[in-house]
Amino acid sequence: MREIKKIVIAGAGTMGSSMGQTFAKFGYDVVLYDIFPAALEKAKNLITLNQKTEVSEGIVTQAESDALLKRISYTGEMEAFKTADFVVEAVLEKMDVKHKFWEEASRLVGEDVVLASNTSGLSITKIAEVIHKPERFGGMHWINPPHIIRLIEVIQGEKTSDEAAGVIRDLALKVEKKPVIVKDAPGFALNRIQLAILRECLHIVDTGIASPEAVDDVMKYGLGLRYACLGPFEVCDLGGLDIFNNIASYLFADLCDKKEPFGMLADRASKGQFGVKNGAGFYDYSDGKDEAKIQYRDEMFTKLAKCLYE
Ligand SMILES: NC(=O)c1ccc[n+]([C@@H]2O[C@H](COP(=O)([O-])OP(=O)(O)OC[C@H]3O[C@@H](n4cnc5c(N)ncnc54)[C@H](O)[C@@H]3O)[C@@H](O)[C@H]2O)c1
Repeated sequence: MREIKKIVIAGAGTMGSSMGQTFAKFGYDVVLYDIFPAALEKAKNLITLNQKTEVSEGIVTQAESDALLKRISYTGEMEAFKTADFVVEAVLEKMDVKHKFWEEASRLVGEDVVLASNTSGLSITKIAEVIHKPERFGGMHWINPPHIIRLIEVIQGEKTSDEAAGVIRDLALKVEKKPVIVKDAPGFALNRIQLAILRECLHIVDTGIASPEAVDDVMKYGLGLRYACLGPFEVCDLGGLDIFNNIASYLFADLCDKKEPFGMLADRASKGQFGVKNGAGFYDYSDGKDEAKIQYRDEMFTKLAKCLYE
């Protein structure tokens, strides 16, 4: 497979822009491709904001940050894929959109170029159905915000070769991430866990057990601290398997097992309240509260990452 110098990212949204910033930090030339010029402009602003935080937190110097920004270019032209050494796609999470994109892009890139999708949980095997030379295609699932969070799930679909999965894993290691290999099950591992938590949180609010603010506090001041440094199986070992087995024996039957989105999530989403990206979600993000929240998150995550990994 080809040596990777130039990485083209499709979709310059929340994920694509931050992934681009990460690759650029480690010396890769990055091209961000999007069909909407406004998305490219927004990506530039987001990367600049992220860089400000990284400089103020002492993660990079001003000079390093300036050099990083120069390694990123922005385009609306598919031509960019012709010279890519690696392609990662972060377009809308819809199978038809991903299919339309890959059908065209996979025929433009060189045949020795590894291709990856950042899908949150769509089937890699299914996306691969339209891809030219599908054995070089796999999942590279980054976690938001990608320039801070270390985990990357590497997903091997039915046709993904060991070599292609290896290239994705090695690239993750080169940008100082923690890759884990996961099977191509819906939601992979992370989103199965995350959505199981979200479903129970919605249920707790829906049935009046606790308010949304109280649920957020339970995570932030209780479980969050624990899970920042220990996995659930390690937590069980420390608490005692007898204790957890006993709790599971009366609690599992009472936990939510709804099959469709419901409660506050479904209500807000149907009203177009999508969160920081458009000013309102579960909380209000008008009048600059959106940027303040992103900055708060990045500062806190960066501090935590320093404690945990350095
Ligand atoms: N947001 C998250 O927390 C998160 C985490 C991990 C993975 N993901 C996955 O990453 C992908 C992108 O998510 P996001 O949150 O960045 O979405 P987003 O809506 O912020 O960005 C998607 C971008 O793709 C662009 N786009 C749409 N169709 C396109 C096309 N045909 N060609 C090029 N660009 C196109 C849009 O203009 C937009 O800028 C999705 O598959 C999503 O499931 C998201």
